[in-house]
Amino acid sequence: MKNIVILISGGGSNMASIVRAAQRESWETRLQARVAAVISNRPQAGGLAIARDMGIATEVLDHRAFPDRSAFDAALAERIDHYDPQGKPALVVLAGFMRVLTPAFVTHFEGRLVNIHPSLLPAFTGLHTHQRALDAGCRVAGATVHMVTAQLDEGPILAQAVVPVLEGDTAQTLAARVVTQEHVMYPRAIASLLRQ
Ligand code: GAR
Repeated sequence: MKNIVILISGGGSNMASIVRAAQRESWETRLQARVAAVISNRPQAGGLAIARDMGIATEVLDHRAFPDRSAFDAALAERIDHYDPQGKPALVVLAGFMRVLTPAFVTHFEGRLVNIHPSLLPAFTGLHTHQRALDAGCRVAGATVHMVTAQLDEGPILAQAVVPVLEGDTAQTLAARVVTQEHVMYPRAIASLLRQ
């Protein structure tokens, strides 16, 4: 069984959708991987309790305890690898992980590092994507699953989900519509990556 490790910083709803896919009853529809661990850089991330309730090992690696980005990323890579008997998890899944990763980290996991971003890339890289889509007058918004490269939010696109922007939308209502689609798209994109 392939091992995947999920990195979070917050509520963990995408993480939960991936764990659910890996725990489905039916072998045919189940994600063919084991979620070996969920690691958060924030001790207070709500997703940690959700993961534990779903029977997944959790770990906190607080970035504030490290002198710089490189030291944190090196420790994180070491912890991730530790969750696979061969020291090489099949996939590292960023699910609302709000840290920019160093080139050394990205290189270490090259071809095995995937992210979900709440915009239709290449539009709106970075933060506050929903407000920026509203401010720009976009009629559609969405989310993108992509491979992670050293350039922020710029790796090859694997999947995209599109939702309409509705009259009266706020960043919150739009985010809620988008994240519902993220929960469908991300486990599917991961399944297809694992089949390659
Ligand atoms: C998701 O909408 C995800 O696309 C976004 O954070 C949210 C996490 O929600 N990711 C980023 O902004 C990455 N730059 P979740 O913790 O409930 O899965």
